[in-house]
Amino acid sequence: MGDVNKLREEFVRECKGLSSLKQLNDLRIRYLGKKGLLTQRLKALSALSPAERPAAGKEINILKRYVEAEIKRLEGELSSLESRKKVATESIDITLPGKYIPAGSRHPVNRVLDEIVDIFLFMGFTVEEGPEVELDHYNFEALNIPRDHPARDMQDTFYVKTDGERQSSSSTGDGGDKREAETDVVLRTHTSPVQIRVMEKQKPPLRFIAPGKVYRCDSDVSHTPMFHQVEGLMVGEDITFSHVKSVLKLFVHSLFSVDTPVRFRPSYFPFTEPSAEIDIGCVLCKGAGCRVCKGTGWIEVLGAGMVHPKVFEGVGYDTEKYTGFAFGMGVERLTMLKYGIDDIRLFYENDLRFLRQF
Ligand code: PHE
Repeated sequence: MGDVNKLREEFVRECKGLSSLKQLNDLRIRYLGKKGLLTQRLKALSALSPAERPAAGKEINILKRYVEAEIKRLEGELSSLESRKKVATESIDITLPGKYIPAGSRHPVNRVLDEIVDIFLFMGFTVEEGPEVELDHYNFEALNIPRDHPARDMQDTFYVKTDGERQSSSSTGDGGDKREAETDVVLRTHTSPVQIRVMEKQKPPLRFIAPGKVYRCDSDVSHTPMFHQVEGLMVGEDITFSHVKSVLKLFVHSLFSVDTPVRFRPSYFPFTEPSAEIDIGCVLCKGAGCRVCKGTGWIEVLGAGMVHPKVFEGVGYDTEKYTGFAFGMGVERLTMLKYGIDDIRLFYENDLRFLRQF
């Protein structure tokens, strides 16, 4: 009995000295653990006589419940004390930079391409596609580009060798040219072949654009071997040159601003007649003359014209009934103008310092 009282006093004293949860846990083990002081006392009961046992057992059990309750209470007290201490000593530096989450962004050329497509969708055009590896027939012949046209010269066109031929890689020079429009394969040099492919399958009226990659054997500050064009074609009854003017003016004014000057200049393309090149007032110097517009105040952005009757004949369209216009533009050029970029090669160097600006 006296022993139990002493044990209680000792426990109470030990509780007063506690300052951490770790110490409390050690205390718990010392009293209530498998070999703990109270556990030992309970085991020792069996050695007592049956007469002494109930009273002694009761005493120990009362102490045990007290010890358990106290430990629980102290646990709550100490844990809130510890968290308050932690908050008081811990400091949060709100000036530390946050975690950097790298975000991707759209390539500037794709951005402008999307804008161009949206403008024409708004005008009721649909979007068509054609192959980048193209037959000579579609890229040249069907577009009324004669064999001796400079656009077919090797320095512009990438020829793709086909089976069992192309020992000689030169298409120029008299007599040595064995190329056949039907079997020769090229990387398309413009998106115009899509005009032919669509007209072969669809009857007028039609109104579509054909965006895509094109390839030319050329490389400097304003040329890359691969670049993007958007072709356009509209065919129907009573289509006139005034449609060309209104559609392309509306396009330029939508892509740039409504006050951008637009001018149509007579030009030549084998597949359109009459043909025009369309200039816009230089967006960089506002027409005053700068390096980009070579001091002229104007920049060429589009080629266009009324579809040549020979092209219609080739796809079996009735040239008496139908007329149409076609146009083509370079997307990189337009992107350079929109963002004031002066070297086309920046688009394809994949320098993140450049790309991250968009
Ligand atoms: N295909 C021409 C080029 O690449 C552009 C063009 C398209 C001109 C349609 C007139 C009509 O230069």
